Order: sequence, then structure tokens, then C-alpha cells
Amino acid sequence: MRRAIGSKVNLHNASNELARLYMDCVSDIIDSDKINKLDNWEQHNHTSRLQHSINVSYYSFIVCLKMGWDYRSAARAGLLHDLYFYDWRVKKFLRSNHAAWHPRIAVDNAKKVCEINAIEEDSIRRHMWPCTLLPPRYKEGYVLTFADKICAIFEVFTKDEAVGEKCKGVLEKI
Ligand SMILES: [Fe+2]
Ligand SMILES: [Fe+2]
Repeated sequence: MRRAIGSKVNLHNASNELARLYMDCVSDIIDSDKINKLDNWEQHNHTSRLQHSINVSYYSFIVCLKMGWDYRSAARAGLLHDLYFYDWRVKKFLRSNHAAWHPRIAVDNAKKVCEINAIEEDSIRRHMWPCTLLPPRYKEGYVLTFADKICAIFEVFTKDEAVGEKCKGVLEKI
């Protein structure tokens, strides 16, 4: 069963309307080799980079869907936004440049997986704002960048079971 952190929606449950709509947006890429390779990398504590990407993708999708924005681009950009394959904590050189570099690497890798539109490319490229200088150009990009930070916080705190349960309770209301 695949689901976003704190969500009860099984993304493979075709009888669930949200799951079906979400999978319609990403079904051609979510099972690709490159995306699945993200499962080999830890992103935050015990959360893999694949799970983190699904979390960001799903909640960006939900917010944009509710706002009447481009939820398809948000879901796809979320899934692709951290498409890089190294541990930035290990390499000292990368550590200082990681915030600026990995979005560019992710864009290059995303283009090897599928065609990406202008909203997707910009949202991936600028998702580290405000840690990097340039803000997103599109509202979907703002949703992604905030979903990224919020998911990261929740992923870190799920290590602590009590806090993790509170975080999940908040997410389940979304
Ligand atoms: Fe990132
Ligand atoms: Fe991220």
C-alpha cells in the first residue's frame, strides 16, 4: 500500500476518487525505475526520498485541487523535485552547495523521465526558496515549496512517536 504521510488514502485504491485522480496525474512516472531508485536514499530520519517525494507530491496536489489550480503539474513536480542520487550529508563539498545544486540536478533527471512543462520545471528548480534567492514564478511552485518544508518537519518528528501521532492527526484533517 502506498500513501502519503498522515493520509489514510491508499493511492492504489482505484475506488477512492482522490487516489484515482492523483494516480491519473502521475501513473506514467510513479513506477519508473528512476523514481523508484529514490527508495534507496534516506531523506529525513527514517523517511526515504521516495516517500518524501510522494508526501510533497500528494499534499501539493490536494492543495492545488482545492484551490482550483494546476494540480496535475503540482503532483508531477512534487514527485520529481528531489530526483537526485547522493547523500548530501556525507560529501562536505556538496553540503554547502546542496540547496542550490540539487534542484538543477533534479530538473536534468526529470527530463530523462518525462517531458516537463514550464510550471513543473520552475517549481522543481526553485523549490528551495527562500534558502535560495529566486522565488517560484507560479502559485503551484509556492505550494510545492511550502509542502516540502512542512512535510520535512513532519517526517523529522515522526521519529518521536508522540509528536508523530499529533502530526498525523493534523495531516488527516487536510
Ligand atoms: Fe529538495
Ligand atoms: Fe524535498
